[in-house]
Amino acid sequence: MPDSLTITDNRTGKTYELPITYGTYPKYGATIPATALRQIKVDEEDFGLLTYDPGFGNTASCKSSITFVDGERGILRYRGYPIQDLAQNYTFLEVAYLILQGELPSESELKEWVWEITHHTMVHEKIKKFMDGFRYDAHPMGILVSTVAALSTFYPEARDIADPGVRALEIKRLVGKMPTLAAFAYRNSLGMPYVHPDNDLSYTGNFLNMMFKATELKYEPNPVLEKALDVLFILHADHEQNCSTNAMRCIGSSQPDPYVALAGAAAALYGPLHGGANEQVLRMLDEIGSVENIPDFIERVKAGEGRLMGFGHRVYKNYDPRATIIKETADKVFEVTGRNPLLDIALELEKIALEDEYFVERKLYPNVDFYSGIIYQAMGFPVEMFTVLFAIARTSGWLAQWQELLEDSEQKIARPRQVFLGYDTRDYVPIEKR
Ligand code: ACO
Repeated sequence: MPDSLTITDNRTGKTYELPITYGTYPKYGATIPATALRQIKVDEEDFGLLTYDPGFGNTASCKSSITFVDGERGILRYRGYPIQDLAQNYTFLEVAYLILQGELPSESELKEWVWEITHHTMVHEKIKKFMDGFRYDAHPMGILVSTVAALSTFYPEARDIADPGVRALEIKRLVGKMPTLAAFAYRNSLGMPYVHPDNDLSYTGNFLNMMFKATELKYEPNPVLEKALDVLFILHADHEQNCSTNAMRCIGSSQPDPYVALAGAAAALYGPLHGGANEQVLRMLDEIGSVENIPDFIERVKAGEGRLMGFGHRVYKNYDPRATIIKETADKVFEVTGRNPLLDIALELEKIALEDEYFVERKLYPNVDFYSGIIYQAMGFPVEMFTVLFAIARTSGWLAQWQELLEDSEQKIARPRQVFLGYDTRDYVPIEKR
């Protein structure tokens, strides 16, 4: 069987043969080069055939070896390691290293990596002035997006993206500083003094310190909550070509420094259909208010009056494996914090939705965001911080994808085509005749 596709253009009767190439997993990686379709023309004047694919429903924009998702079977792997094993046996910084470098770190590599990230957590004092400029009720995602972009002005050498040494340094700075920016954004909204990083603590322990330290001399994170946050960060670290990663690659393709590219990716994450969904889930559960109101709410969703937030996914047409791990993590967290009363509403909502024909037919299952917010809330994070937490974790994924893009000789500046539906040339119309 030849690895090619034969196409007959019924407009002209001509036949074309297009090569089929494969990824490591043929079921998902069989592709034809889209530009090969351009030779299919009705005459020499014709521009050639394009594919029309709003939202990239069936277009591979890159070749990648970072994350593998099999949405039908509910599989997620980073660099070949199943998400369940990573969440159970590794720390977030180990997983971030794996995603960024391609292999698990040795003991000495891990020690050095943790040391480097820990010693890149401080931000320039002027960043605080920036923070002070925002209104007291500014959304922390708006603050995060702006301050990450502002870091670009502090590190002008970051523009030298062709230098692997520069890239490696900026990656460490970004992974190190994101929790600091996030915690500062939160403290700013409360009018509380900023807490400086504590190098004795782990990545997530230090983040909890910068978020919640009050008058105690030394903040001691609760180990269960510290571990739970670590697991949640692992689950959110990368997810192949999603909306924000695509933004990172798209902006990165014009070759700016990684700070502004990452600010763009974080902005894409902010939307309610992507990383902003975890915030919307909590608002939805609050709005439902009690278990008795669920059937009514489901009917409204089915009538098209809004979506069941935290349900559905472009790729997963099965239970999101991350949602299963999050549910297990929730039990451990609630043993420390007490049960979040919204959990009962969420569990019942999930049960009813999974039995309802509307959701079954459309293969709508809980996604990573359905339960994460309930845990974050129990841990003391306000809803506005949920997407910020997602952004901290996804920073490693965005940067790995950005690095892969820069090292891929087949990549070019992202520039899609369009199907033009507007007017042909029109004549000048004097203002009195319009
Ligand atoms: N509630 C109700 N109906 C839904 C939902 C939902 N959450 N999601 C999809 N549908 C319905 C659509 O109305 C559509 O129905 P139709 O065929 O009768 O028109 C069908 O299911 C297919 O939906 P699409 O919007 O075409 O699916 P798409 O793959 O484009 O969207 C998305 C995926 C954006 C995640 C969608 O499921 C959604 O909006 N979910 C809610 C928001 C959410 O939880 N986002 C987080 C995703 S995970 C992440 O980003 C980390």
